[in-house]
Amino acid sequence: MRKITLRLAVLLVSACLAASSAVAQKSSHAVDAEGHQWWQHAVFYEIYPRSFADSNNDGVGDLNGIASKLDYLKDLGVDAIWISPCFPSPQIDFGYDVSDYENIDPMYGTLADFDRLASEAKKRHIHIILDFVVNHTSDQHKWFLESKSSRTSAHRDWYVWRDGKGPGEAPNNWVSLFGGSAWKFDPTTNQYYYHFFYAEQPDLNWRNPAVKDAMFDVTRWWYKHGVAGFRLDAVDTLFEDPKLKDNPILRPGKNDFGDPIEDNKNNTKLPEVHDVLRGLRQVADESDAVLIGETWTADVAELNQYYGKGNNELQLPMDFLFTMVNKLSPAEFRKQIAAVDAASGWPTFVISNHDIVRSYDRYGDGKHNDQIAKLMAALYLTLRGTPIMYYGEEIGMKTTPPTRQEDVKDPIGRKGWPGEKGRDGERTPMQWNSSENAGFSKGTPWLPVPPTYKTHNVADESKDPDSVLEFYRKVLKLRHTSSALLDGSYKAINESDASVLSYLRVYKNQTVVVALNMTDTPRKIHLEGNTSAKELLHTGGSAAQGAEVSLEPYGVFIGELTK
Ligand code: GLC
Repeated sequence: MRKITLRLAVLLVSACLAASSAVAQKSSHAVDAEGHQWWQHAVFYEIYPRSFADSNNDGVGDLNGIASKLDYLKDLGVDAIWISPCFPSPQIDFGYDVSDYENIDPMYGTLADFDRLASEAKKRHIHIILDFVVNHTSDQHKWFLESKSSRTSAHRDWYVWRDGKGPGEAPNNWVSLFGGSAWKFDPTTNQYYYHFFYAEQPDLNWRNPAVKDAMFDVTRWWYKHGVAGFRLDAVDTLFEDPKLKDNPILRPGKNDFGDPIEDNKNNTKLPEVHDVLRGLRQVADESDAVLIGETWTADVAELNQYYGKGNNELQLPMDFLFTMVNKLSPAEFRKQIAAVDAASGWPTFVISNHDIVRSYDRYGDGKHNDQIAKLMAALYLTLRGTPIMYYGEEIGMKTTPPTRQEDVKDPIGRKGWPGEKGRDGERTPMQWNSSENAGFSKGTPWLPVPPTYKTHNVADESKDPDSVLEFYRKVLKLRHTSSALLDGSYKAINESDASVLSYLRVYKNQTVVVALNMTDTPRKIHLEGNTSAKELLHTGGSAAQGAEVSLEPYGVFIGELTK
């Protein structure tokens, strides 16, 4: 969804209130002397359940499959898993169209399987985060079926229904992010309903207090099942201008779906979003839970709004601006890290997810891809903040999009082909070993396994001390055992260096230096002052001698400063 992703990032720009106060997380359950909470020390890992592990060999991953891999995740250094939607769903948007919020889709198992997974995860001190699709339901959800049954139905006002402007004319010019008008005509009641995404995903009407109550109750229900928090899907889009003002056209031309290019100012990021987030946070706080946000922000001022005043909204709004630094540019990373480091809440770093081309492809140069995958791991896993990994990143999985339109599963890819090929490429089955179907399933996988499973898989990489996987294990181990990496402040060094990104993490009298060569030629950096660095982790021939750190192409050096 790189196109979609870019569109979101570019279009979802709104006025911003800059809030700035030091990060002060109130805590009744602090895990360190700084008052940090569990989610500030945790490493999160996103699992796309269709593609992780298939226990019943029907070609689609499931909860028992996830349970069977908990030891792998623990050993890797994962403290919390975010499972993309696994609730009953017609699967139009592969689970992001929920038809029952309080159950498990049979394709993934049963509620009893979920409870077993939760208890097995708990034994290993792994938290479970579920994906809460707050903006819309499936058109097969009982609320919507009732809502569309008549104009006077009890749930009519749970969705956004409007009369057309005239015969055959939608209420306004808003277009769906997934193509076509954002309004669908319903001949039974002679009105249109609004959908920011697919027509099968009608938007909930969050102005109706009954919607709010029902949705807040959903979170309470899952907290009772042992869930440690939620990743809130598409929060930017919860509210629409009640007067339905047309959106301005940003520029002439059409997008990949043939629609006009709009500025979504009247249907995204309305200030009312924050009332909902504050409410969800109050409920979360009763269970010591964490809220992660899918927050497409234009800048850090806008990100600050999602933390809320005094950090009373999302604890972990994802900084997608970091994912948009799409080249190995020390200057651009430095700028973005400094901005997020100065945000009013705890930073959250991601480099890939189920909507974005994998980091392996975004940064790889085709020649040093594994080296670069390690470099990126060393970067986002040593910054001050919480990292959210994406399954398969740790073994260097490659985005593998379909080559023919008829093979595309993601509907936006069929509709937007060839400009928008959809998101199948970053959702392919996890590569566990070099046997058939990469050990993901004995059935036919729902998406083809990329050919790279022969070289990039968990089993083989576990035997190779130089693999991407072993590097992830090492850096995660270091992160979990280093106070400087967990709690230390971030300080950029050698800021004019155009080739090497380097910084310090400083906690009390411990200082860790991280040096990352973002070029394909050997480089050196000089540490200021009378210091030298004792090595903690490095790649290839990168090493320190006294105050001089030598880095091989795309080399990594992490060391502790000694006077
Ligand atoms: C979010 C999800 C994406 C989904 C969309 C609609 O952006 O990450 O996968 O298609 O919401 O629910």
